[in-house]
Amino acid sequence: MSKLAKNPLKIQSMFSSIAPRYDLLNRLLSLGRDRYWRRFAIKQLPGIKDGVFLDVATGTGDIAIEIIKRHNQNTKVIGIDFSEQMLELGRKKIIKLGYQNQIDLRFGDITSLPFKDKTFDAAIIAFGIRNTPDYKTGLGEMTRVLRDRGRIVILEFTSVQSRFFRLLFRTYLTKILPFIGGIISGRKGAYKYLSDSVLDFPDPEEFKKIMEEMGLKEVKYYPLTFSIVTVHVGIK
Ligand SMILES: C[S@@+](CC[C@H](N)C(=O)[O-])C[C@H]1O[C@@H](n2cnc3c(N)ncnc32)[C@H](O)[C@@H]1O
Repeated sequence: MSKLAKNPLKIQSMFSSIAPRYDLLNRLLSLGRDRYWRRFAIKQLPGIKDGVFLDVATGTGDIAIEIIKRHNQNTKVIGIDFSEQMLELGRKKIIKLGYQNQIDLRFGDITSLPFKDKTFDAAIIAFGIRNTPDYKTGLGEMTRVLRDRGRIVILEFTSVQSRFFRLLFRTYLTKILPFIGGIISGRKGAYKYLSDSVLDFPDPEEFKKIMEEMGLKEVKYYPLTFSIVTVHVGIK
């Protein structure tokens, strides 16, 4: 359970307000590493033929697009998000790439996914689970809609780094990131929320335990780029 007060309506309107600058700020604030992190996470998905994947908190659809680039023409991805503004930008990118027959972006909430049990071969969430007041609800929903032995992949910022890197990272997270994010998006509060929610997120061992408590098996995690982000993988 998160210690930070998270109001879903406020989070929804915050993401909608930064949507037009979201992709640009991702590239800028991560110094381009966000693409590598997403690709690494996607490589942890099973390489199944004609798979049906779920991308939760899809935002502007970068994960969904990258899944299609890596899989065959019969692969399908459904992306879910509760910000229509983010989804609209994602749909435009998907049409531009000609992936509209393979990717379907839909409005939906992590806490109550609009799908039947065992619908998907695998489910992924990138920088989304941190935003839920109770991580277990989101994990439970993602697990419910997975087929048996389906895989769940979670990419999220890491709250704890090595001693050497911690001071540098925390200064960047709490001072520089809200400053640059605020100037470019005009919403400093959103980037202050980003740093607060990252620092509030469980460390990788703790999150692994939460996944195991939710019944996921063979849980592993991979810290990337000095542990700025971590990818967790589990099997239903
Ligand atoms: C930081 S963005 C990540 C977007 C995308 N996955 C990426 O890698 O760029 C977080 C997204 O989660 C969405 N989100 C947050 N809480 C949500 C919820 N309860 N249900 C659905 N989407 C949610 C936001 O609208 C936002 O688009």
